[in-house]
Amino acid sequence: MKQHFTAPIPLSLYIHLPWCVRKCPYCDFNSHTAGPNLPEELYVHHLIRDLEENLPAVWGRRLTSIFFGGGTPSLFSARAIERILTEINTRWRFGPDIEITLEANPGTVDESRFKDFRQAGVNRLSLGLQSLQDDKLKALGRIHDRDHALRAIEIAQQAGFENFNLDLMHGLPNQTVSDALSDLRDALATKPKHVSWYQLTIEPNTLFHHQPPTLPSEEVLWEIQEQGKILLAEQGLQAYEVSAYSRPHAECAHNLNYWEFGDYLGIGAGAHSKITDMEKQTVTRHWQVKNPRDYLDATKKWRAEERILSNKEIIFEFMLNAMRLTQGVPVTLFTERTGLPLSVIEPTRLAAIKKGLLIENSEQLCPTELGQRFLNDLIEMFLQHA
Ligand SMILES: C[S@@+](CC[C@H](N)C(=O)[O-])C[C@H]1O[C@@H](n2cnc3c(N)ncnc32)[C@H](O)[C@@H]1O
Ligand code: SF4
Repeated sequence: MKQHFTAPIPLSLYIHLPWCVRKCPYCDFNSHTAGPNLPEELYVHHLIRDLEENLPAVWGRRLTSIFFGGGTPSLFSARAIERILTEINTRWRFGPDIEITLEANPGTVDESRFKDFRQAGVNRLSLGLQSLQDDKLKALGRIHDRDHALRAIEIAQQAGFENFNLDLMHGLPNQTVSDALSDLRDALATKPKHVSWYQLTIEPNTLFHHQPPTLPSEEVLWEIQEQGKILLAEQGLQAYEVSAYSRPHAECAHNLNYWEFGDYLGIGAGAHSKITDMEKQTVTRHWQVKNPRDYLDATKKWRAEERILSNKEIIFEFMLNAMRLTQGVPVTLFTERTGLPLSVIEPTRLAAIKKGLLIENSEQLCPTELGQRFLNDLIEMFLQHA
């Protein structure tokens, strides 16, 4: 069946800045230890060319959010961030209310840089706290301690970042329920608008995979999750996605666009894009070469791969993202974003309702509590039946 798109699809921009002071032992992101000389200027030059090369595919479309992710984008100077934003602004329409987020590591914070980021147009900061207990930060190989982390939040607030997110992880080596709750309590005392609260996962190709730390038992992990959710809600932060908690109207617009299966252009080493072509009626995914050295090599191509998604992939990817949302999505969004009639998933939708994994509601595709707990089972149903 051919897709048929009618409604415009929102578009966001992701900019990958791939360097960190050093690699954390649990991290599987495309991040690389920065040498003494960060090739900042050269990288910015390549980012802008990358953007230009991709512009024809998104020509005339309005941008809804920009996200500087990493790696550690706060390693870059405010001058570089400003230059990137100015170059985008001269080529592309975005409104004054656009969300512009930058990820920062508390070990790379200084006062004037944060003020300058704000001045450059960044209006949302995402601080990678991970924990507020020194022994846990040490076990995670972080370059900052508790005092650095609290100071970074203060500096962000003084620099005018009212809208900030705190990244915290739980299920850390030797962590007790009370350790995890104490991290949450201390972080919430700083009044963040948003908290991303991730359970530590041991990823292949990380140091933790080769030398596994002692992690809490399943029972402790369950207690942390249950009690943590209650604590976050008591403090006014509601879960709206598996790991994302926000105050009302402070959801991360950029991540919401991923979860609602909007389009995104990714520039920088290893960045992924998903673009719907309304004329050709296709959805294309492409990604850039992963290694920054290759990305900066003028003799090599940026594009690592590009392909048009099949219906099966589109359906699966839509469900993979949308079912992460606590309230799910309106059923109409399925057709809007996949270009396919709801009838293609109707038998699977009904089967999932019967299994108690989806709520019985003809207006909304929404996981039940059971569906949220067994998310992989729910999503896999749509892989098999698509
Ligand atoms: C792309 S990282 C960048 C943030 C920034 N570089 C930092 O670490 O401060 C985004 C977030 O993913 C989370 N994360 C990274 N690896 C993880 C893992 N193995 N398990 C769970 N969360 C992880 C961390 O909370 C991290 O802040
Ligand atoms: S600082 Fe962030 S991106 Fe860099 S290695 Fe650590 S977790 Fe990964």
